[in-house]
Amino acid sequence: MANDDKYPVESDRRRFVKGVVGGAALSGVMATGAVTVTSATTPAGGGGGIMNYFGANRTLGPAPRSLPQIPMEITDDGELAGIWPDPETETLDDGTEFVESAEEIGGVEYTTEWFQYCGLQTFEGIVPDEDEDILFRYDAGVYDWMDEVDQDEVMHVDHFEDYDEFDTRIGDPGQGKPATGTWRSQDVPAEQTIPILVIKSDHLEPDEIDDERTAEWIEAACPEDDDGGRYIAFVSKCTHFCCVPGYRSLDGAPDFGADNKIYCNCHNSVYDPFDIVEEQFVSLPRPEDD
Ligand code: FES
Repeated sequence: MANDDKYPVESDRRRFVKGVVGGAALSGVMATGAVTVTSATTPAGGGGGIMNYFGANRTLGPAPRSLPQIPMEITDDGELAGIWPDPETETLDDGTEFVESAEEIGGVEYTTEWFQYCGLQTFEGIVPDEDEDILFRYDAGVYDWMDEVDQDEVMHVDHFEDYDEFDTRIGDPGQGKPATGTWRSQDVPAEQTIPILVIKSDHLEPDEIDDERTAEWIEAACPEDDDGGRYIAFVSKCTHFCCVPGYRSLDGAPDFGADNKIYCNCHNSVYDPFDIVEEQFVSLPRPEDD
């Protein structure tokens, strides 16, 4: 398991949730390392702490870790959605309460706290019990094919039927069909929009993944539809300084070997959407629960 954040590996996540790292304390943690994590933690109640997550492997550039993956589901009507478990109130040993959305998916403890970074932890849509649905919707779009759909229209499997034929001026054909969009951002201020990237591809076959835990995760988090191929989704916020990266859409990508990868042109970080890895990071607490 990669550990590019250089935080300690810790299997019992709850231990750290009980001592959530506050914003001020976190800078100290990042400067001084692992020992400080436990000694500087203070109860906050907004979720967060050290946790494992799955994401698109960071293969180049200054980004410290992978791009977090959103486990998906397809509704009975063929709509694409990101799993958002029912919120539950957790009570810490000191009586502090916080709300979390978490469940086991494919043997992995998934929590929406995976997305509490880069300021997203302050967004309304990230609050577990915020009244937002879980459907993926298109944004203005960076791909020509998205002229066929409307902004804010719900993503649907019918729009991806030609996924194996998709081609664009960057990258090779046969990589699958991407779309950009938004998630849990319908009734929030524009600056709180959560950007996402969705790809349907043949490159996500669990049988071809050596690591059993990752294969189980992909099987559960990347659904198939009747046409074959699997869907995968990511929060589109670079883990370096939070720019929105592009997949086969930014001109500079080939200069960094990112023709077929997710490329962030702010400082040239590259992520591989078909190389899913488990990593660890410090999720930030939501301020409204402090
Ligand atoms: S590489 Fe710096 S923000 Fe993405």
